[in-house]
Amino acid sequence: MTRLAILASGGGSNADAILRYFGGHSNIEIALIACNKKAAGVFQVAENHSVESIYMSRERFSEWDGYLPEFQQRNIDGLILAGFLWKVPDTLIKAYPNRILNIHPALLPKFGGQGMFGIHVHRAVLAARESESGITIHRVDEHYDNGDHVFQAACPVEANDTPETLSKRVLALEHNYYPPVIEKYFNERNDSIDS
Ligand code: GAR
Repeated sequence: MTRLAILASGGGSNADAILRYFGGHSNIEIALIACNKKAAGVFQVAENHSVESIYMSRERFSEWDGYLPEFQQRNIDGLILAGFLWKVPDTLIKAYPNRILNIHPALLPKFGGQGMFGIHVHRAVLAARESESGITIHRVDEHYDNGDHVFQAACPVEANDTPETLSKRVLALEHNYYPPVIEKYFNERNDSIDS
């Protein structure tokens, strides 16, 4: 059994899709949800799925131990960022080499980096008059949106799109692809010697 933690900052629709996918019939268990915003909807998602959740403060996450003791105490094997908006500290990157995934709501390397999150990404895609957008699932390293790409999927940008309509189309791709990509990625890690 591979035990994963989801790190999220917002409504948690990706966390919900992941929890639905892995619910009870997989060798992957989502054992913890960790969130940096006290009022975030993802806490309700955790409760709905009877998954433990913790709040993480900026000071401890970014400046101290990255909550690594909490992850280790629960035998967490990898971290899944799902709408998580803080940079992951070196402590966690070293503790989980090649075992942290992020999803970004655009086709990286375009429209990534600090400040490019959520609706800001879709606004930038429309302002650049792109004909397509999509999702990128990538390994997390010490820079924003920089690690090796694991998976991408594209969707069209329509002539009459607003940031909101585009975000819905991209979010549907996220919900569809993130759970099976997580499953494949971590199962392959477990099969390989150097992981
Ligand atoms: C998702 O679109 C995710 O790709 C994005 O935030 C949204 C979270 O939605 N993440 C980023 O922009 C990271 N740079 P959710 O809370 O409903 O899963």
